[in-house]
Amino acid sequence: MAEIKKFLRKHKICPVCTVKKLAAATQIHIDGADRFYNGTALTPPMGWASWNLFRNHINENLIEDIAAAMQKSGLADCGYQYVNIDDCWMSSTRDADGRLQGDLGTFPHGIKALAEKVNALGLKLGIYTSNGTLTCEDLPSSLYHERTDAETFAEWGIEYFKYDFCHNIPIPTNAPEISTVTITKQGCHEGITLHAEEAELRGDAILLTDEKMAGTGRYVSGLEAGRGSMYFNNVDIDEDGTYALTLCLHKTGLKDKYLEIEINDTDVYTLTEPGTKGFTPDGRNQITVKLKAGKNSFKFHNPVASKMDSAAKQYRKMGKELQRATKLVAEREGREEKPICFSICEWGWNKPWIWGHTAGNLWRTTPDIKPIWLSIIGIYERTVLLYKHAGVGNWNDPDMLEVGNGNLTDDENRAHFSLWCMLAAPLILGNDLRKFIRADGSVDTDNKVLKIISNKAAIAVNQDPRGIQCRRVKTNAVTDVLVKPLENKEIAVCLLNKGPVEAEVSFNISDIIKEAFVDLPKAGEYEAFDIWEEKEFRIRNSYKTKLRPHSVGLYRIKAI
Ligand code: GLA
Repeated sequence: MAEIKKFLRKHKICPVCTVKKLAAATQIHIDGADRFYNGTALTPPMGWASWNLFRNHINENLIEDIAAAMQKSGLADCGYQYVNIDDCWMSSTRDADGRLQGDLGTFPHGIKALAEKVNALGLKLGIYTSNGTLTCEDLPSSLYHERTDAETFAEWGIEYFKYDFCHNIPIPTNAPEISTVTITKQGCHEGITLHAEEAELRGDAILLTDEKMAGTGRYVSGLEAGRGSMYFNNVDIDEDGTYALTLCLHKTGLKDKYLEIEINDTDVYTLTEPGTKGFTPDGRNQITVKLKAGKNSFKFHNPVASKMDSAAKQYRKMGKELQRATKLVAEREGREEKPICFSICEWGWNKPWIWGHTAGNLWRTTPDIKPIWLSIIGIYERTVLLYKHAGVGNWNDPDMLEVGNGNLTDDENRAHFSLWCMLAAPLILGNDLRKFIRADGSVDTDNKVLKIISNKAAIAVNQDPRGIQCRRVKTNAVTDVLVKPLENKEIAVCLLNKGPVEAEVSFNISDIIKEAFVDLPKAGEYEAFDIWEEKEFRIRNSYKTKLRPHSVGLYRIKAI
């Protein structure tokens, strides 16, 4: 039986592996309890970003003017604080030190100077790259440059970072096959060689032979996709120090491979091995590692079993680098740490609501929004189901707001804003804030869009410190009733008419308080505040209203 298994593995015939691989495609191998916390976004972040309206037509003057308008229009007083430069701020060449730099024509004074100007207005600057080799507009990006870029952003004083997913290269699920591991103290020629046949093997890891290889020809296979691992324990080392770890590998297959090496259960090193094109049966891969005097343990495996694992790992890596960088820079410059709010923009492809809270502060739930009712409703339908994943410090992100963009009607703008408030979504504006300031420098307080986005009662629903995303408690094909628990045992209720004609919507408080997630006390009467009509009224139990097409009613309700 063992011989058959070896024969099949050696000749890469493995029906069981195929089944396991398919099963693993949706698995995630991360510690869900390892919540990302950096002290930011304790309520959903609020700000503005350049992409929805300005796309690639941005420059430092525009960003400065938007920041000034945010401050002057009163939006900053409502809580909006981030001014985020989306794609296209960077030059297509890194500088001589390999650092990203602002476009030399459109951001001639550099991003650090811009951050200082934005900070002088009491606001924070945000920036963008992609978890890929290029951004979505094909400009330089941060995959494989995580440490350098995180440090650069921290040095510039950046406080919000959106990390996109274009040009992503997933971590391979395949693993190299290992014949020997040689440990050499740097500067010494003598080393300790650990042989495949001495290793402890777990899971699917298996010892095979290839006579064409040098030495015994033995090597360990089966370390891929979290299925097997290889250990060397109690390896005696004379003194603490940096050592070269040279892996002699059995060359196999055209696919790229990935390996994690866990040393003494604490330090994790990674290496990638290209799909083989060489002419020799064995090759080598070398990294440097820190070892301690005395006994050391080594674990070799590739825990990445799926695209989901890969995305989670890559975003977690950047999140950790940002946290490291902000601390480092604060220490170096003797100033207070400026944590960076980390926005994961992976479009919901690999279910970021499952792992996003271990990697960053917010995660996109869908592909890009458009200033069209159908797009807004489609995104809402997806995100409303994800309520259990949102909470203080880590949020579902249904994308930046389109309020004030395209041909959205006043009702649609209000409904879009209300839904995002109910979803505890980041409120990142995407419109032209300069329009709120008249030519004489005064604020256009009659501007309908400004009135919507600066409605403090709506914003209070979004910014409620309990950070609970709404749930849909009643629905038919056209209308929905949403409930969001708030502080002081109050609730927000949003009635939504998705359809193109007027519709009647109703609810009973007695039905709402039956829901386990609602802690509104039972009372004879309730005080309700109509957030858009700015009117108070009383409810005994039932409430019924007619809603215009594509519109909402938004209420804050408490027991009296
Ligand atoms: C992707 C993102 C958008 C925007 C663009 C920029 O499409 O999802 O939000 O950042 O890239 O190129």
